Amino acid sequence: MSKQLILALSKGRILDETLPLLADAGIVPAEDLSKSRKLLFDTNLDDVKLVIIRATDVPTYVQMGAADLGVAGKDVLLEHGAEGLYEPLDLEIAKCKLMTAGIDGAKPARVRRRVATKFVNVARRYYAEQGIQAEVIKLYGAMELAPLMNLADEIVDIVDTGNTLRANGMSPRELIAPISTRLVVNKAAMTMKHERLKPLLARLSQAVERRRPAAELPAG
Ligand code: ATP
Ligand code: PRP
Repeated sequence: MSKQLILALSKGRILDETLPLLADAGIVPAEDLSKSRKLLFDTNLDDVKLVIIRATDVPTYVQMGAADLGVAGKDVLLEHGAEGLYEPLDLEIAKCKLMTAGIDGAKPARVRRRVATKFVNVARRYYAEQGIQAEVIKLYGAMELAPLMNLADEIVDIVDTGNTLRANGMSPRELIAPISTRLVVNKAAMTMKHERLKPLLARLSQAVERRRPAAELPAG
């Protein structure tokens, strides 16, 4: 196994919050990511490289060992299943909630509820646990449109401020899981590259702690 560490980052919203955190932990890309079409980047650390990929691909890269560690939303990890991954650190960024939502005032009347979502595995699991029969309809975006177009009775989606739901005459119903961005590590790498990973994880963990409001810091 190579001594190099490959860190897979989720592009998009999470990347914008990950880069400052990495910088706080002393990991800085060797060039400006926003000005490059490259996908693989050197960093200021000789043995650490970054790959920038779709958020939904991060668990796969890390699970298969193509990357040693990765940064991904808990929503993506729940949907993927994330078997064969360690999740040693909550990076406490891109916080939001995974919720069910529906049209204001509408009651989910049907016995078999039609649920539109891109989180089909999470949704199937959730409704089964609740003892609710659900027909889960896979969509790739704009879930909020589905109940308005009578494609679904309810959606399962990310909620942060609630603005997107409100703007579409919908409101949140049940919380499925609180979401934040997690650091995940390949299980084999955790053993084989432990000497190199340990200080890196410690630096990231300290960077997360330094960002917490003073009231949340442990006393002493
Ligand atoms: P893709 O473009 O790959 O389909 P996406 O549009 O879901 O993915 P982003 O919007 O960049 O990608 O979101 C990535 C992650 O950021 C989500 O998986 C979730 O963990 C988090 N996230 C999504 N929406 C919000 C939000 N409104 N507030 C905070 N975090 C969010
Ligand atoms: C996310 C999510 C919701 C919205 C929730 O969408 O899919 O639509 O944020 O945030 P709010 O509660 O603060 O309105 P995003 O803005 O990432 O767009 P996309 O998923 O359609 O790319």
